[in-house]
Amino acid sequence: MSHEIIEKRIGLMGALIAIVISIGGLVEIAPLYAQRSVVEPAPGVKPYPPLALEGRDVYVREGCYNCHSQMVRPLPAETERYGHYSLAGEAVYDHPFQFGSKRTGPDLARVGGRYSDEWQRLHLINPRDVVPESNMPGFPWLAERQLDAALTQTKMRSLQAIGVPYSADEIAAAPEAVTGKTEMDALIAYLQGLRFINPPAAEGQQ
Ligand code: HEC
Repeated sequence: MSHEIIEKRIGLMGALIAIVISIGGLVEIAPLYAQRSVVEPAPGVKPYPPLALEGRDVYVREGCYNCHSQMVRPLPAETERYGHYSLAGEAVYDHPFQFGSKRTGPDLARVGGRYSDEWQRLHLINPRDVVPESNMPGFPWLAERQLDAALTQTKMRSLQAIGVPYSADEIAAAPEAVTGKTEMDALIAYLQGLRFINPPAAEGQQ
C-alpha cells in the first residue's frame, strides 16, 4: 500500500494512526499489570489494622486529600524533606489510593511517627494551637463521634472480596479493636501508620 493511498483518505489515516498509537500504549501499559514491583505489596506492607482502616475512611470522607498528597516523588528536594520516595507496592491495599498531587499542606505519606498522638489530636482539633501560621481547618467533631464496630467487619469483608488478604481471625477480632474508639482515635492511628516500611534486609542494618 503506497503512502499516497493513505494520505488521500483521512478516515483511513485516522484509523491507522489510532491502531499504531494503541499498540504503543499497550506495550507501555500492559506489562505493568504483571510487574511484581507494581502489583505485589512492597516488603513488610500489610493490610490496614481495623482502627487505621476506619481512620482511612475518615480521611477520605473529610477530604484531607484536597490539601494533602501521599506520594513522595523521587527527587532530592522531596526525599530530603519527607523520606524515601513512594513505591507503587505500598499502595496495593489502598482502595482508592490517596496519591494525589494537591499540596496545600505537606505530603503525608511519611508523617507516621513524626509527631506524638497528642500533637496530632491538638492539631486536628485546632491546627493553630500547635502551628500558629496554619490555614488548615479544624476537625473537632471527630473527637465526639464513636465508630460503629459492626461496620468495620463489613468493610474488611468488602476489601477481602477485592483481594486484600484479611484472615477470618483478623475480621473476627476487629470489633474489639474499634469498640469505644472515636473517629479521632481512628484517624490518628491511620496517620501514625503512614510511614516507609523498611524491607527486612535493611532493618538489620539499623
Ligand atoms: C484546606 C487545606 C487542608 C485540609 C482540608 C487539611 N489540611 Fe492538613 N495541613 C494543611 C496545611 C496548610 C498544613 C501545614 C500547616 C500545619 O501544620 O497545620 C497541614 C498540616 C497537616 C499535618 C502536619 C504535616 C507535617 O508534616 O507537619 C497533618 C498530619 C495534617 N495536616 C493532617 C490532615 C488531615 C488528617 C486532614 C483531614 C482530616 C487535613 N490535614 C486536612 C492544610 C489542610
